[in-house]
Amino acid sequence: MSGPDQGELLRAPLFHTPRNPFLQDHALESYWDGGLLIRDGRIAASGDFETIRAANPSATITDLRGGFLLPGLIDTHIHFPQLRIIGGLGRTLLDWLEECALPEEARMADESHARRIAQGFVHALASHGTTTALVFGAHFAAATAELFEAGAKAGLRIVSGMVLSDRKLRPELHQTPEAAYRDSSDLVRCFHGRGRLLYAVTPRFALSTSEAMLEVCQTLRREHEGLRFQTHLNENSQEIAEAAKLFPWAPDYLAVYERFGVGGRGAVMAHNVHPTASEIERLAAAGTAVAHCPCSNAALGSGLFDLKRHIEAGVRVALGTDIGGGIGFGLLKEALQAYLLQRIAPNGALLDAAHMLYLATRAGAEALGLETDIGDFQPGKAADLVYIKPPADGPLSAVLERTETPDQALAAIFTLAGAESVSQVRVEGSIVYKCASTNP
Ligand code: GUN
Ligand code: ZN
Repeated sequence: MSGPDQGELLRAPLFHTPRNPFLQDHALESYWDGGLLIRDGRIAASGDFETIRAANPSATITDLRGGFLLPGLIDTHIHFPQLRIIGGLGRTLLDWLEECALPEEARMADESHARRIAQGFVHALASHGTTTALVFGAHFAAATAELFEAGAKAGLRIVSGMVLSDRKLRPELHQTPEAAYRDSSDLVRCFHGRGRLLYAVTPRFALSTSEAMLEVCQTLRREHEGLRFQTHLNENSQEIAEAAKLFPWAPDYLAVYERFGVGGRGAVMAHNVHPTASEIERLAAAGTAVAHCPCSNAALGSGLFDLKRHIEAGVRVALGTDIGGGIGFGLLKEALQAYLLQRIAPNGALLDAAHMLYLATRAGAEALGLETDIGDFQPGKAADLVYIKPPADGPLSAVLERTETPDQALAAIFTLAGAESVSQVRVEGSIVYKCASTNP
């Protein structure tokens, strides 16, 4: 007799990277006739379908052959207020902020506008297969709360925080350090650890945060267990020169954040396109992660990320779409862009499908300190997954018809799968998104 307590056994080819392919060979695990047994929202078993069925004859079988199962995608850098400004091409960071991003962010003062954008934003995450995201909130507490509420309603894992700044942007985006402390503390109490939500202390970047504001960040992290941290680092040459003027005592950009003790595990610095050798070493030693945002780096002309130097030094690197500097919500595309840019970068790393899958899944879990819970299909982890099933008449289906190995199929998925191929998305076994046209 089958029943919910016996679990649901999904049958489809599956891929995951329980190990780091930058450090080990054979990090990709794939099963052509795969099985994923889900019980109470957790993965009870993953591997060969027949083996799992034989050991669990009472499990309810869901036949998903025709598509592919991947762990839920993890975006480690994205801005929710920037949904509507994707596509502001042709500018570099500081002009883009002034002309595109900041005017739009000021609209977040209107709570009903923020609610509408938050709903569209979380829907876009889910419909692209992203189950966990580290998100820059708004400069306003109420708008940031709307994002948490929308994320909770959508069933996603959202790690976010109110964006803190007290200079150099525009007056309506500035808070005093006192107000930043008060509002952040309230948001932490309300959302940190509630269901799938976590709070991240979020100073925008060194240019917009005084030392007093960075002290607030340090205090918040000290006062509350398990808070994450996110900011921007070494994205653009002009920005770095400005930071050096504002913090003349700091030997480099990272030293500004280090002075206030905000790095380490659970801290994610976005970009790091122009690091010094010493900064790379210190990031590795501290366990601070870097969110690599190749689409944004190209769109804003920020530069080529030196992935090899980071990996060789032992820095944790994951992926971020950096909407709206980036060009879309798809982490599969983001991983492909990492591959493409590494192909043409001097000293570029040659990435294969295993590297791309790792960067889009398990690396994100590690960056966020969530690797015991999510990031791959090892038994005991939450059943967060994306089911890729391309439209029957599209090019990906045509390619998959003739792929002969799992590696080829995975590379084709990274190359061709967009939102139209995301058929179903689950978090802890529950469906959070279903595409009407491709779902079985
Ligand atoms: N640095 C400070 N703010 C931002 C932002 O919104 N986007 C990016 N890409 N870089 C930033
Ligand atoms: Zn950013």
